[in-house]
Amino acid sequence: MDLGLQGQGVLVTGASGGIGGAVTRVLAAEGARVALHYHRGRDAAEALAGEVGGVALGADLRAEAEADALVPAAAEHLGRLDACVASAGVWPAEDVPVGELSLERWRATVEANLTATFLTCRAYLRHVARVGHGCIVLVGSTAGLFGEAGHADYAAAKAAITGGLLLSLKNEIVRVAPLGRINAVAPGWTSSAMTTDVLDEVTVGRITATMPLRKVATASDIASAVAYLCSSTAAGHVTGQVLTVAGGMEGRVLR
Ligand SMILES: NC(=O)c1ccc[n+]([C@@H]2O[C@H](COP(=O)([O-])OP(=O)(O)OC[C@H]3O[C@@H](n4cnc5c(N)ncnc54)[C@H](OP(=O)(O)O)[C@@H]3O)[C@@H](O)[C@H]2O)c1
Repeated sequence: MDLGLQGQGVLVTGASGGIGGAVTRVLAAEGARVALHYHRGRDAAEALAGEVGGVALGADLRAEAEADALVPAAAEHLGRLDACVASAGVWPAEDVPVGELSLERWRATVEANLTATFLTCRAYLRHVARVGHGCIVLVGSTAGLFGEAGHADYAAAKAAITGGLLLSLKNEIVRVAPLGRINAVAPGWTSSAMTTDVLDEVTVGRITATMPLRKVATASDIASAVAYLCSSTAAGHVTGQVLTVAGGMEGRVLR
């Protein structure tokens, strides 16, 4: 099926990362022109931009001015900006129960996930208001759906993204773009730089125990779901939805 993305301009945040990089490749293969956002991973973003004929743009998305500048820069480089994929995020690896969780880590996690996503959406929605059309795909997590002991900060931030933020924006975007859509993917455990250090054999056995499809996702498993949601040909009547890509995961093995 032709997703109708040929010639469309898409900004992918976190394109220097595993999932954002895979999203970039899939969109480029569908003929989209991509602005690849990075924070610290300039080399990775520039290498991939060279490969797919895109442009690499840096920003710390926790910083209001940098997030605000990213969207016009992407629109200018691509000539048009039809969609925005908000994949940038941080999962703090250390397992810390809430009783011992510092306010500093709580704030840092919320800022790097929820606030960064808010700032990305705000900047992009200003562009949508100018051009009258647009599409957003957020990246949540199964942590936001099932919780994640030892990572309540991350789970709460992701739940806010795929809950209150998504559901509010689905009704706001149409005020400025009658066919504007916003959806989210909620990946389960996925092979990327974020998880390479924790996905040993025992952990993989535990996390796949509640999944009928017993494997850790690849970044391209997530990317094809994102591409579908970006496509107004394939998903033109789909908005406010969370597409979970986690092999049918039913929850956690607690003991
Ligand atoms: N991997 C998983 O198992 C998994 C599961 C569920 C959900 N997710 C979500 O999927 C998304 C992508 O994760 P991934 O697996 O691709 O991880 P990754 O490879 O670590 O990529 C994370 C991306 O976020 C960017 N980023 C981090 N802090 C930032 C900041 N302050 N400002 C701007 N960008 C920032 C990074 O930029 P630089 O590298 O350039 O600094 C990188 O591009 C995240 O939202 C993550 O929470 C991942």
